[in-house]
Amino acid sequence: MSKFPSDKPVLVTCGLPYVNGKAHIGHLRTYIPADIFVRSLKKQGQEVVFVCGSDTHGTPIVVNAEQLNTTPDELVRKYHKHFDETFKDMNIHFDAFGTTDDPENHNRTLDIVSKLIESGYTYPKIIEIAYCPGCDRFLPDRYVQGICPHCGETARGDECDQGCEKHLEPGELKEPKCTVCGGGAEYRKQEHYFFKLSEFKDFLLEYLEGMEGTSNARNYAIGWVKQELTDWCITRNLDWGVKFPGHDDLVVYVWVDAPIGYIAFTEEWASANNGDWEKFWKGDGRIIHFIGGDITYHHCIFWPAMLKGAGYSQPWAVVASGMVKIEDKTFSKSRGYVVWVGEDYLDHGFHPDLLRYYLTSYTSHTKELNFSWKVFQEKINTELVAVFGNFLYRTLLFAHKNFGEIPEGEIEQDVLDHITGTITKVNGVMGDYEFKKAVDSAMALASYGNVYFQSNEPWKLIKEDKTACGKVVANCIQIAKALTILFEPVLPQKMEEAWAQIGMVGDIHAATYSDATVLVNSGTQLPKPVILFGKIEEDQTGKMEKISSARVAEALAKESGAKDGEVKDMETEKENKTETGPETNEEITFDDFSKLDIRIGKIVTAEPVRKSNKLMRLEVDIGEDTPRQLVAGIKETHDPVQLIGRQVVVFANLKPAKLCGVESRGMVLAGDTNGAVLLTPEKDVVPGTRVR
Ligand code: MSP
Ligand code: ZN
Repeated sequence: MSKFPSDKPVLVTCGLPYVNGKAHIGHLRTYIPADIFVRSLKKQGQEVVFVCGSDTHGTPIVVNAEQLNTTPDELVRKYHKHFDETFKDMNIHFDAFGTTDDPENHNRTLDIVSKLIESGYTYPKIIEIAYCPGCDRFLPDRYVQGICPHCGETARGDECDQGCEKHLEPGELKEPKCTVCGGGAEYRKQEHYFFKLSEFKDFLLEYLEGMEGTSNARNYAIGWVKQELTDWCITRNLDWGVKFPGHDDLVVYVWVDAPIGYIAFTEEWASANNGDWEKFWKGDGRIIHFIGGDITYHHCIFWPAMLKGAGYSQPWAVVASGMVKIEDKTFSKSRGYVVWVGEDYLDHGFHPDLLRYYLTSYTSHTKELNFSWKVFQEKINTELVAVFGNFLYRTLLFAHKNFGEIPEGEIEQDVLDHITGTITKVNGVMGDYEFKKAVDSAMALASYGNVYFQSNEPWKLIKEDKTACGKVVANCIQIAKALTILFEPVLPQKMEEAWAQIGMVGDIHAATYSDATVLVNSGTQLPKPVILFGKIEEDQTGKMEKISSARVAEALAKESGAKDGEVKDMETEKENKTETGPETNEEITFDDFSKLDIRIGKIVTAEPVRKSNKLMRLEVDIGEDTPRQLVAGIKETHDPVQLIGRQVVVFANLKPAKLCGVESRGMVLAGDTNGAVLLTPEKDVVPGTRVR
């Protein structure tokens, strides 16, 4: 049974973009599938509302504005407009697109935070915060830079992002400096407020068991709750943000007011459309959050706990996508590994629908997606052009030339069965957030259409038996109609054109899946068709690849020229450091080597370490009574689900160490290229087998 349509109304949201920079292709991995999902729900007759908005608060935005000599307000206005336009250009249609600085959000945040305070879910605590005497202010997060107490690297804010990746508590950074004036900072005691997340452990475990969505979100979250839940500091010393009730000098942490934006935008939609926002947030309407996997913790742990504590309904489902990488490189704006939606795609004349198709058909939604111009070209040319486009054009051209209208002819049962079969399949997999499977099923119907056309040889029939030929063409047009409806969620603009080409009147966006089997009307005039999908030529993608490599070269040159200690980039993402270790020629004896306990192990558990971008916690069976806990820097390169059951090589008598608070007793061996490449035995052996 498909989960949709249901009597309960559905609210779909997308992770709110930080509006301090341009939209890139990585962002689209959240917005495009959500838009496709919403369009598909509408085709199933499901009542659905789709909201999003800009995330305007947080320290990075304030720091960026200062660096650019502008105000946070001006900066976020500019990029809010940019995102709004980009979404429209990409045919992503929200029912409301607000900002977290809207009065609706200030009010809703105040309401929720006050409820948390009244219910005793917050408490004040005195902590040490860096303070800059020169600027006369406290320095939250990115405003402070110093030396990591653990590894000695330069670190910023609350994380040693260039060094050991450890989470840093306020007050831990050594030799703190202010990133605005560069002057020395000092520590001063200050009162901040904490949210008692730790009290929600039992609630979360039960809630998460029943939470719908993709299994990656649910499983990670359950793992984290079982590991530890630490209370959250929910206030910051900033002027920009939503005021913390009763304290004019404090604003709430951006991760408090950002998700509350989902409620505020539903309210904005409701007041503009005479709708009811409470049926979602206080009733049993289904809330579905689409997010990138990087913000799973916030959506599956912090957010439901906050909602529960304040007496609101919790999300029904969280759909988390795998992250987008570029040509095998971790996404990094400062290193030039980025593809901008505007200047690198749309501005070069590429059609938005092609990118929608590529991003959904490339790989399953929860997997990492490695953007490549070559694959983009290949997918468009071999699927959209050669299969679907080919079927539409040959059918319509033949029909136009020989009949000028939809000819008469009974639609075959087998054709109708194929159409209904495809619709049932698409409904089912859409309900499981398997967008690739939905696209593949629709494409399979296009292949069926091509086979149908080819095997019935209408070009021969037209000379021998025009009535029989007409029947073949009518059947092909029925298939074309179904395909147009099935592909509308993915290719909304192109399918508008296709709809007109098959002589349909009315709005394709309002057509439902059940319309696909409504018989086409013979006698309908057919216009001269035009080719919908043009082939993408080698030199087009070649040119794009050149632009990318030039950008990378430029960024790397800039980076190596940057002064030591200078604040190089103000971006939200972390860098992927490639370290080629020092070559060593020192010889060691066989005795030395035999001191190493190296064994083959089998991974039994794999889960990302929440506080780190790179680390994964593993339990590996190395032939001992209990599996060994190891921490490996493979989070960015490996999917935990696919690691389980794999055999690896373990250096077992390495001195234990704590990484990001998690103990590692040994090391998994890997080749270190641009990402870790795990070593595996030639064939499976008994775990514990020694390597000599
Ligand atoms: N502002 C926060 C979200 C707050 S939600 C209450 C944020 N902003 S973001 O601009 O960094 O990202 C916006 C959305 O795009 C998020 O869902 C994020 O996961 C997603 N992605 C951003 N970069 C991405 C990739 N490279 N790949 C896949 N999704 C990515 O996070
Ligand atoms: Zn460090």
